[in-house]
Amino acid sequence: MPQFKPLWQVRCHHEMAPLGSPPRTLPHESYPRMPKLEIEQFPCLSDNYAVLIHDAESGLTASIDAPDAKAILERLDAKGWRLTHVLNTHHHGDHTGGNQRLKEATGCTIIGPLAEADRIPGIDVAVSEGDEIPFGAFKIKVIETPGHTVGHVAYWIHEARVAFVGDTLFAMGAGRIFEGNAEMMWKSLKKLMALPRDTEIYCGHEYTAANARFALTVDPENAALQNRAKEVDQLRDKNKPTLPTRLDRELETNPFLRPHVTAIRAILGMPYAPDWKVFAAIRERKNKS
Ligand SMILES: [Fe+2]
Repeated sequence: MPQFKPLWQVRCHHEMAPLGSPPRTLPHESYPRMPKLEIEQFPCLSDNYAVLIHDAESGLTASIDAPDAKAILERLDAKGWRLTHVLNTHHHGDHTGGNQRLKEATGCTIIGPLAEADRIPGIDVAVSEGDEIPFGAFKIKVIETPGHTVGHVAYWIHEARVAFVGDTLFAMGAGRIFEGNAEMMWKSLKKLMALPRDTEIYCGHEYTAANARFALTVDPENAALQNRAKEVDQLRDKNKPTLPTRLDRELETNPFLRPHVTAIRAILGMPYAPDWKVFAAIRERKNKS
């Protein structure tokens, strides 16, 4: 018997959207006033970020991935928050290594991608595309983003304008393709590119400075990229985080999201290739850089 259960077994029926219904979109002004989601991001391990989200009204707290149980427990203690959930984006050890210890210490529910459920330690609830995880006043929507790993998922909270994208998208970069292929990864990135442009993007790692250096080699005339690269150097000189980023900034400066751009295509010598092939060529170049 599997250790986990599918999400539909643990959520209330009135919280489920009808199957196949499109996401509800309302003009910005029409959004009801939402309680604030508190977000705490801090570095751990060599270059990972741990992220805690907290809904004060319900008292719920989730850790996005579990890179380092000790660091996460210390931060929970400092904030006075009790961990109720871990949301794993994918099975890699630097994202799930703290699962068991966090569960033992707090009794939290561990949620992770169905397609990798057998590789997520301590998983209680397995999720897949379109699932919605109730989190106090918020709904955490699951977006499947395979490529880095075959079951990778991102977690998106529309009302809070945030997405937690693990190792799929980075500031000015994208994840390495370990288990999927370039076409799959490009489709995953396109899903993230379709989120509201003001979505704050939390990523799994601080790779931004190296990503900026590479980005300038394929998109050297991009003024927004040039400015951002300088800004990133200044932040890293002071050991400050460059994350979260925002989707609109990425669309302007991240070459992995810009395979349609004529100047990038010219540098790669691929004027007429489909976007995913240009994306694949950028990924190949980055692998060799
Ligand atoms: Fe990873």
